[in-house]
Amino acid sequence: MVKKVFIEEDGNLQHIRDETIAVIGYGNQGRAQALNMRDSGLKVIVGNRGDSYRKRAEKDSFKAYSIEEAVSLCDILFLLIPDEVMKDVYESEIKPNLKEGGAIVFASGYNIAFDIIDIPKEFDILMIAPRMIGAGVRARFLTKEGFYSFIHVENDASGKAVQRLLALSKGVGTLIKGAIDVSFKQEAVLDLFNEQGFGPAFGRVLLTSIFTLVDAGYPLEAVLIEMFMSEEMSYTYRKMANIGLVKQVSLHSHTSQYGAMSRGIKFRKLPLKDKMNEILQNIESGDFAKEWEKKSSKLKFKFLKFFATRTRINNLEQKARKNLNLKSYDIFEEEEPTVENPEEMKKLQDELKEFEKFYQEY
Ligand code: NAI
Repeated sequence: MVKKVFIEEDGNLQHIRDETIAVIGYGNQGRAQALNMRDSGLKVIVGNRGDSYRKRAEKDSFKAYSIEEAVSLCDILFLLIPDEVMKDVYESEIKPNLKEGGAIVFASGYNIAFDIIDIPKEFDILMIAPRMIGAGVRARFLTKEGFYSFIHVENDASGKAVQRLLALSKGVGTLIKGAIDVSFKQEAVLDLFNEQGFGPAFGRVLLTSIFTLVDAGYPLEAVLIEMFMSEEMSYTYRKMANIGLVKQVSLHSHTSQYGAMSRGIKFRKLPLKDKMNEILQNIESGDFAKEWEKKSSKLKFKFLKFFATRTRINNLEQKARKNLNLKSYDIFEEEEPTVENPEEMKKLQDELKEFEKFYQEY
């Protein structure tokens, strides 16, 4: 695509008015995108395995079919199931049933970017990857605020892939805000980097700040309110997006501005950039995707979740929520994972010990 940024006028729904769209998967993104496209006047059906998500689709008055049936009935297919199960479902239920000249729309570049699914030359391969959770995709469509997405044509088998992509982007509601042409690989790397670079580094900064204050004797509830429960931080984040990273500084008091601007220098020597580059390279090389494909990573994941529910911060937070009369979510019921393959466990043992120790610090 020659242009990089697309808005409402760039999409024309007439290009897809007569095509049937099957949304495969009625979860976070599936439900929101299916409802938005139907409200935009497009022909939408749902394909789902026989679980509670399928019932939800029927309750929302969609015609719901098995995945195979929905695929055989549609011209355009939105593949909105979890990334880690996509390859198997694609190979067994989608590829054999999709019409030639049909289109597959991904909401994440992951499986194509890291060669987990081979690009089929006979279909249009498109991406509409919202930078927004499903609930927001729906809510911001209804309020007409819209949401950003990264979009791309990876394969144009029909000769009309660009028109299809832009029409679908309009139908989903992302052109209200704007869509940016970004490759599958760039989308996947940006997404993973945010989760693996920024996320954990920010988490460590937040938790270190909380423990610095709690260990110095400040009241627990006050510390948590100060650091995140007041939602002041999320409000500030919103302002960063609305008026700019630097401009929003002027919304804080002079004392706050001086304190923040004069103290940043004290953290200059943290080896953050080196660590971030290490993480970026691990993602770009495909090493992370290879690691996550391994069976042993699924077992490791179960243990990491288990360790994460037994941290000091969770105990403290539960206590604070109770004192503040807030609803408590019982995350402590997570049971210690059972190990079916002791050989696999043996290989992971040292690494898991290290993680257990790490989580005990928090
Ligand atoms: P989800 O976890 O909400 O998906 C649930 C749906 O997948 C249900 O309909 C369920 O029946 C189906 N499903 C689960 N396992 C299955 C299996 N083994 N076989 C067949 N169907 C199965 O998925 P979510 O979070 O909506 O993600 C869908 C896509 O959207 C992914 O590519 C994800 O990367 C992308 N995405 C997700 C965002 C989010 O807000 N969660 C944000 C942007 C993109």
